[in-house]
Amino acid sequence: MKLSCAFLQLSLAILYQVGHNQVLSLDNGLALTPPMGWMHWERFRCITNCTEQPNDCLTEDLIKSQADKMVSEGYRDAGYVYLSIDDCWMAKERDNKGALVADPIRFPSGIKALADYIHSKGLKLGIYEDFGKETCQGYPGSEFYLGQDAQTFADWGVDLLKLDGCNADVNDMKTGYEAMGEFLNHTGRPILYLCSWPAYVQKIAALSDYTAFKKTCNQWRNFDDIEDSWDSLYSIIDYYGSNQYNLSAFAGPGSWNDPDELIIGGFGLSPNQEMVQMGMWAMMASPLFMSLDLRDVQPESKALLLNKNLLAINQDPLGKQGLRLWKINKAEVWSKPLSKPGSLAVAIINTDNQGAPRVFHLSPAELGLPQVPKYNMTNVFTNKHDGPYMFSQSIKFIINPTSIYMVIAEPS
Ligand SMILES: *[C@@H]1O[C@H](CO)[C@@H](O)[C@H](O)[C@H]1NC(C)=O
Ligand SMILES: *[C@@H]1O[C@H](CO)[C@@H](O)[C@H](O)[C@H]1NC(C)=O
Ligand SMILES: *[C@@H]1O[C@H](CO)[C@@H](O)[C@H](O)[C@H]1NC(C)=O
Ligand SMILES: *[C@@H]1O[C@H](CO)[C@@H](O)[C@H](O)[C@H]1NC(C)=O
Repeated sequence: MKLSCAFLQLSLAILYQVGHNQVLSLDNGLALTPPMGWMHWERFRCITNCTEQPNDCLTEDLIKSQADKMVSEGYRDAGYVYLSIDDCWMAKERDNKGALVADPIRFPSGIKALADYIHSKGLKLGIYEDFGKETCQGYPGSEFYLGQDAQTFADWGVDLLKLDGCNADVNDMKTGYEAMGEFLNHTGRPILYLCSWPAYVQKIAALSDYTAFKKTCNQWRNFDDIEDSWDSLYSIIDYYGSNQYNLSAFAGPGSWNDPDELIIGGFGLSPNQEMVQMGMWAMMASPLFMSLDLRDVQPESKALLLNKNLLAINQDPLGKQGLRLWKINKAEVWSKPLSKPGSLAVAIINTDNQGAPRVFHLSPAELGLPQVPKYNMTNVFTNKHDGPYMFSQSIKFIINPTSIYMVIAEPS
């Protein structure tokens, strides 16, 4: 695999420049590293018929069962502290004072009681609303009720708000999302603010105002919802790879690009593809919101979600979003600077899905490593230490179809 040196140097120059931007981020003291938690949407959707699907139905008991597992299985202690309810938690109508109410059949104790339970477990509660007239699934939206809803959430003890953008005019979103941010601030309760706004305006350059996103939101969705498949997963990775210089410049402590939930432990990815998602979400400094049934997790999926090397890369205090250095012939290399001087995370993805493992001979320059005489590598999945390698030496990597090889490289 031969690469143009000029191209690589350009990529590296940009890699080390990002992060020197002066754009202000939302100042609510939250999300200094990418937020971590669990979110119901990708796995449990809008399943509301509890007769038909008692095990998967969105109820307060489902949420409590996930909270219990977050604690007993070690997810909370690894950093996954937010437990976030998505669309379909509400009753179809507001009450006679205009306040939101939870569905009385599925959430009979109400959200305040659920928040108390979640807090008693050392977790934080997230909730979902929509900026428009109705949510994406047709429940009451926050249009005309932004201030009242912000106060309701604060009174209930909510710690995170995901504000979606269905059934709304894209031209109103800047004003509306900023207003909701102000209302949340005025409640006096620090509430992590997740915005879907950028995803709704991503194809309209004039409305794609990243300076405003960063000032208003802790975390924002840029692109399509993730579905439970490799094609969906890779389309998101490729979107980030293709738009990286715009996106990465705005990521950092307090504000993060959000490529959507982790589908590890779902039905659609092979074990190798699950490694790709966890590896790449670490590389991209992405928020880590698992969406799986924590009552039923395969050991390999659990080990990935709790992998200490990957979580350390994701949570690195420097907060740099990794960049794709090159993509050639169904292979790509990504690089993320880490806070330890000279230390980098490097990912090589084989996106070819045909048959056999492939062999790559790559030089340190092709991996984007800075020129030092010798360096060591730690394989993040096996925790095996290798080295020292000479800078002049090419290294052989054998990578399975739709899989990833990922290391932390540091000067020896
Ligand atoms: C739930 O599903 C059952 C069985 O399919 C059906 O009979 C019932 O009408 C459904 N209930 C609601 C509220 O849709
Ligand atoms: C509200 O905004 C001010 C100014 O940015 C900030 O200092 C304060 O911490 C915010 N409070 C909350 C609860 O977010
Ligand atoms: C952002 O991306 C667009 C489209 O690819 C490009 O024209 C523009 O120059 C980029 N802006 C920055 C600051 O990189
Ligand atoms: C690099 O690896 C060598 C041999 O495996 C070891 O002696 C050395 O301490 C390592 N250097 C660092 C910085 O970890």
